[in-house]
Amino acid sequence: MSEKTLYRFPEGFLWGSSTSGPQSEGIVAGDGKTKSNWDAWYEREPERFFDQVGPENTSTFYQHFREDIQLLKETGHTVFRTSIQWSRLIADGTGAVNEQAVAFYRQVFKSIVDEGIKLIVNLYHFDLPYALQERGGWENKETVYAYERYARTCFDLFGDIVDTWITFNEPIVPVECGYLGDFHLPGVIDAKAAALVAYHTQLASSLAVKACHETHPDHRICIVLNLTPAYPRSDSKEDQDAARIAELFQTKSFLDPSVLGVYPPELVDILKKHDILPLATQEELTIIKENTVDFLGVNYYQPLRVQARSSQPSEDEPLTPHYYYEPYDMPGKKINPHRGWEIYEKGIYDIGMNLKEHYGNIEWLVTENGMGVEGEDKFREKGVIQDDYRIDFIADHLVELHKAIEAGANCKGYMLWTFIDCWSWLNAYKNRYGLIELDLDTQERTIKKSGHWFKELSQNNGFER
Ligand code: BG6
Repeated sequence: MSEKTLYRFPEGFLWGSSTSGPQSEGIVAGDGKTKSNWDAWYEREPERFFDQVGPENTSTFYQHFREDIQLLKETGHTVFRTSIQWSRLIADGTGAVNEQAVAFYRQVFKSIVDEGIKLIVNLYHFDLPYALQERGGWENKETVYAYERYARTCFDLFGDIVDTWITFNEPIVPVECGYLGDFHLPGVIDAKAAALVAYHTQLASSLAVKACHETHPDHRICIVLNLTPAYPRSDSKEDQDAARIAELFQTKSFLDPSVLGVYPPELVDILKKHDILPLATQEELTIIKENTVDFLGVNYYQPLRVQARSSQPSEDEPLTPHYYYEPYDMPGKKINPHRGWEIYEKGIYDIGMNLKEHYGNIEWLVTENGMGVEGEDKFREKGVIQDDYRIDFIADHLVELHKAIEAGANCKGYMLWTFIDCWSWLNAYKNRYGLIELDLDTQERTIKKSGHWFKELSQNNGFER
């Protein structure tokens, strides 16, 4: 029999999971929540959402948070991340503060902290108040300043309980899915708007960092990015160029200004060439330069595989990132068939090395990694879902993370997506990600095999295999 290896993590390493307000809280009559972009979209086009399950039906954390916080303990959490819904806290994004929301979030945050769990609060997880969306959303600079006010309000209202913050979750996703595709509102193809939205989001993030440091100098604030490495099909110059440009769009567009305080010159040149470089004032660029994040959150699910284009772009081809590269469907890749995402554990090691070598070895946490699986019911034995595939998925990634830490990566924790099966945008409840099963009919919560395994992982600060 081959000998087992022990993967022990550094002392104080954090173990937990992430969720978001819009994906967990749900809506209860009379709770004072106003409409977000997702609520409005579901009202308009429910058929776009899997099984027509919309955002009001999320995992009822609003009513069950006490029980859920106990479940965090039972699954070994030492860290937990959720987000405030802007549309719940501030009427239509710029109106009166909703006192019910203040009471709700204060209770939730206090209960988590009282259990000795490190709490990280995100300000924005794809959910814009719809009233702002109607006035142009992130294309309108008004949204930047409305967000800054919202961030300051959160620091004021909750800064006595919360000391670790996130400005945005995966800000490139609404840009790609809303302005270069139709998986988020407004669902248009408009590269100029995409560039402007990305720039405004970055400016808003830097303003939140500034506000946090000004009002609570002892607090720490980060941005969460999906730092998908881009792997070229081959060593050819064309494929290498494709990968470099893919990373400019997909990762460096937020990573560089957030961590280094400046945009990559090559990205600026490309946007200039296409005449879509957003107008930025010197004052704004100074805000970005002077207000970099204290640490990074890294979401990692899948690598980005690219190749050079097989044909030249036509004259009237609209500009999208694929103007410069094509996705590469690598033969023989390992895949999660339910989500259609490649599984490539080494990506997490490469992220750690990239941050070490090119970003001053900034401190980071894995803020999301996980496996969404459809039809988990068939894995039930004696009432418990035997999700060995999830345990293997986590362990395989942890082996690479461990290797990265041994090689000097400054990673301080691992957070799974997510602690309980939750609603996932257009996919609603199609794929289940939780350590805990949620019965949609009864809202009953049952710990899966992975939840018990995760507790041991946390208690032992590592695992053997
Ligand atoms: C991340 C998001 O990109 O992926 C989450 O931050 C999301 O909000 C998660 O739920 C899983 O993706 P999906 O589309 O399968 O829900």
